[in-house]
Amino acid sequence: ELVNGFKLMEYGKAKGIVLPAFNTTNLELTSGIIRGYQNMNLGGYIAISSNNLKLSTPQMIADLVKAEMTTASTPVALHLDHGKSFEDVKACIAAGFTSIMIDASHLPFEENIKEVQRTVDYCHFFGIPVEAELGAIQGKEDDHVLATDAKTKVADVAEFVEKTGCDLLAVSIGNVHGMDLTPNLDFPLLAEIAQESTVPLVLHGGSGIPFDQVRRAKGHNVIKVNYGSDLRQAFISTFGQAYEKNHKTFDLMALSGDAIANVTARVKTIINEVNMS
Ligand code: G3H
Ligand code: ZN
Repeated sequence: ELVNGFKLMEYGKAKGIVLPAFNTTNLELTSGIIRGYQNMNLGGYIAISSNNLKLSTPQMIADLVKAEMTTASTPVALHLDHGKSFEDVKACIAAGFTSIMIDASHLPFEENIKEVQRTVDYCHFFGIPVEAELGAIQGKEDDHVLATDAKTKVADVAEFVEKTGCDLLAVSIGNVHGMDLTPNLDFPLLAEIAQESTVPLVLHGGSGIPFDQVRRAKGHNVIKVNYGSDLRQAFISTFGQAYEKNHKTFDLMALSGDAIANVTARVKTIINEVNMS
């Protein structure tokens, strides 16, 4: 069932789980993710980043997810990840997305607040929750690499959350995007942020974070963890390995099926490690 983001947050709270957010790119990743949720009988987010909307429009993704969800029974919210512009936000809501992130973390503090404020005003009118980001997350994100380490400043948290009215706060506590750098979470900082924030927290860069650290973060009001690279690797390696074995592999149907199965397996492992271990 495709559900509203607020409803999913309530579901996660009632179950006492960390909601995973899996990034999709295309049909097969989408199928793999939704099958994983179904297999584990657990809900969560399916997300697409603003950058990926160059390949698939919001409407294409929303239609795809809705079609895949017709036979699904666990609650899933369709989330815009790292929303880059107000235009993207509007297009996603018009297409039927049920949860939004606006990422204005690269802007100076006051401008970040302003951009989030107007997004919150818009999204709340439609009853849709907004995730915002404070501090910058290092590493590779689609087409750009952020090298600077800009951890979330504790002193900014309460003011940011209060002024913006955001519903979820993405933090930078040593977590990194991609799988090239090994993340080392700063738990004392996370604990301080959790004290200051009146809204629950989000961890980006889930791929590569040791699972015991993700479970530990749950104790500090982290309710959502994003996974992208991990599933993309499971997907791409399926094709790469088959091609390495046999350069005359043309059975795209069979390989796509294998790729979906490999993505589903990773989704199941992640859900299991994060919430059931
Ligand atoms: O927003 C997306 C996630 O933060 C993805 O991070 O590719 O390191 O799992 P990841
Ligand atoms: Zn991210």
